[in-house]
Amino acid sequence: MPLMTTANQDAHAMSMIAGIGDLMSGQSASLVLRIKELEEQHLAFRNSLVCAFNQMLDLKDINTGVHSTRLAEWALRVARKMDMPEERLYQVEVAALLHDIGKMGVPDAILKKPGPLTPEERALINRHPEYSWSILRLFPGLEEASLYALHHHESVDGTGYPAGLKGNDIPMVSRIISVIDAFDAMVSNRCYRQGLPHSEAIARLLRSSGTQFDPDILQAFIPIAEQEAADVFAAAGTSMSAAL
Ligand SMILES: [Fe+2]
Repeated sequence: MPLMTTANQDAHAMSMIAGIGDLMSGQSASLVLRIKELEEQHLAFRNSLVCAFNQMLDLKDINTGVHSTRLAEWALRVARKMDMPEERLYQVEVAALLHDIGKMGVPDAILKKPGPLTPEERALINRHPEYSWSILRLFPGLEEASLYALHHHESVDGTGYPAGLKGNDIPMVSRIISVIDAFDAMVSNRCYRQGLPHSEAIARLLRSSGTQFDPDILQAFIPIAEQEAADVFAAAGTSMSAAL
């Protein structure tokens, strides 16, 4: 059998390399597709978990689904106004939806007690941001949202809970949730009371500017509350007059 010349050997080696290259690029293309498929499945699964937890809040009558949906709408609008990058908005949306999930850990007898709370009962309710954190941090990929939920009852003057953080030490998303949660609760109708007019709710927010609420967040939020409320309520499937 004649020996291959160097030129023949080179050509043979080149064609083998090209063959391996083709095989590998074929394999890596299908690997990339498979990874993409698994990523999509993971995201869909995580989204359905988020929706299921939101539904659970609704069933437990902790936050009605429409209140949570409105909070997500308000939060996204304020976050965009504060120039938050688009890739962080998913965490913002989830934190706004599920920040009170920890209330599941507070007995109904305390959570729905009609009369005044004892200091012990108040202390137990005030643990709910920590409970929210302990639940959300278990969702793969929601660690950031869990921190936002942990700090949603902090006040910018340091008198909030659980950590007594001040000013910019409080994550911006937590400061946003604090403002929009207070506003949405004030303007919502309850079976036992009529919601406040938006102008009155804004006046009350402003009275706590620099103590409970971040003035910069208020500055971003107030024009949105004044101009976009009808869109936010419509997006959540309610009208402003019938808001729950
Ligand atoms: Fe809360």
